[in-house]
Order: sequence, then C-alpha cells, then structure tokens
Amino acid sequence: MQAHGSVRKTRRLRCAAGTGMPIAVSRPVDAVIDFLEAEKARGVTHVALDDEAKEVLRELYRRARAGTRPAVKQAAVPAAPPVTTAPPAPATAAVTEVSATGTTKTARLASLRAQAETWPPARSLGTLRQTMVFATGNPDARLMLVGEAPGHEEERKREPFVGPAGQKLTDILKAMGLSRDEVYLSNIVKFRPSTPRQTTNNRKPSPEEMAACLPFIRAEVEIIRPECIIALGGTAAEGLLGGVGSVSSLRGSWHEFAGIPLRVTFHPSFLLRSQADLTTKRQLWEDMLSVMERLDMEISEKQRGFFLPKD
Ligand code: URA
Repeated sequence: MQAHGSVRKTRRLRCAAGTGMPIAVSRPVDAVIDFLEAEKARGVTHVALDDEAKEVLRELYRRARAGTRPAVKQAAVPAAPPVTTAPPAPATAAVTEVSATGTTKTARLASLRAQAETWPPARSLGTLRQTMVFATGNPDARLMLVGEAPGHEEERKREPFVGPAGQKLTDILKAMGLSRDEVYLSNIVKFRPSTPRQTTNNRKPSPEEMAACLPFIRAEVEIIRPECIIALGGTAAEGLLGGVGSVSSLRGSWHEFAGIPLRVTFHPSFLLRSQADLTTKRQLWEDMLSVMERLDMEISEKQRGFFLPKD
C-alpha cells in the first residue's frame, strides 16, 4: 500500500489523537499498523495523510532511526506508508526541540515549563492525560531526583511527588537532613499516563512516552547542573540510561546522565509495599549514604546505622 500517487482506492488517515482512528489500542504505532492492515484487507491501496498524522509518523520515524524506541516493533515502522512519503523533518522543526530562554535559571525553567504544556511529541501520542506537571524545588539544587511520571495526586496538585510515594520521599530526604525545597524534584514524563476508565489508578509510562518527554529532563539538567542525580525506580533508570537492567543490578554503583553522576535506587513507592523488608530499606538507605558522601554532606553515626539489623 502506498501513501500517495494515483489512487485506486484511497482512505483518509487522520491522527490517532483525532477521531479518524477507528481502533482503540494503547500505542499509536500499533493503531496505525492495525488500521492499515485492515484497510489493505478491504482492498484499499492508498492512504492520504493529514498534517497532524504526518507529524506523528515523522516523529516515530525519527525516534526509530535514532534508536530511542527499543520496545517498538522495529520492523513495522519502516513498513508504515509515511516513511516513503514523509522524510525526517528538517532540523528546524520546532516541535522536537526545546529551547530554554531567559537570563536566570528560574526564567529558563519557566520557559521550559511553558513549552511542556503543549509539547506536540507528547500530546500527539494520545496516551497521556491533559494536565502537565513539571517539577518543583530549588533551581540551584546540588541534588536532583527524577521519577517516572505524575500520578493521580500529582496531577491534582500539579506538583511531582505529593502522593503517598511523595510522602515517603519527603521522609527519606528528611532522614538525609534535606528538605524538598533544597533539592530539585522532577519526572521524565510530564503528564500522567492514561488508562481506560481511569480513576485514581496510575500506570508506568511507556518507552515512547519517556522518549517524547526526555528533551525536558535533559534541558532541566542543563539548567540546574546538579552535582548528583538520583533515578527513582527502574522506569526512571530505563528512561535516563537507555533501558538496561533492573534496579537491583543498577544500584550500588555510579552511572552518568549528561555528564552528571547518577545513582539508581528503588522507587519510594516500592517501600510502601509489603515486600519491602529491612534489607530493601537498608539498600535504599545505602544508596542515599553514597549520595551524601558524594555531596560531602556530614553523616552522623546514627544516620550510618539506619535500617541495620539489631543484634
Ligand atoms: N511517582 C513518580 O515517579 N513521580 C511522581 O511524581 C509521583 C509518583
């Protein structure tokens, strides 16, 4: 099936985020493939694309070429018709470039925040909710913590880590001698991932959703220039480091993101679960001790002994 040309039987393909996509599936690329296959089976040989659909597919193509979408059916992407008719957009395409303008860190972060509100690569996925939740904390922070995506509470208050996991994180920071105002808290994905008939339930973001929002975390790191980053949980680690390994295999050593030392640890929500035993708590705490050492923070004997088994 071709995307354009002399048409024997043509269907108009509109963006997945619009009303033209008749199949309800979670990933736009799957919807496109399913839709085209169904059309082909009906004898349709050509499709016409509207501008929004072209942009979505260009973005998928760019990411597939850049190798940033490991979980996508790789073979299916080049088979999609727009690949033959929609070459990668020129580097001037504003939709995939974030630019932080302003002379102070606060102003530059504010300009990023404004761009995130309508960020086309995220919006066009059609799998994220409307409310944008950016970041909170100190632009001069020495420590930056990165989670995966806002949940129900974060969306309601438009602030990262304010739900139960956020409470736990606040407690961990307090045990380190830090307040939320001293650090910078952000998420890779700036919108709450959506689910069918969603109420208070949350889901972890997909690789596509993280790839769409990654330019923001990069730009935030560039502005904040923290001395150390903590990736909270396996999904955040996957988003920042490129999808390698579990928390257990990644924690306990130093990694790097954009030239900044990065430590991986458990997501605070993991500590809320019943399987979070003393060993897990101690492991997370040892990650925090490593960060404190890296930041030359004073560590008391009491702090060193947190979550050690009592003899
Ligand atoms: N989990 C995250 O990863 N981020 C939040 O902001 C809240 C919960």
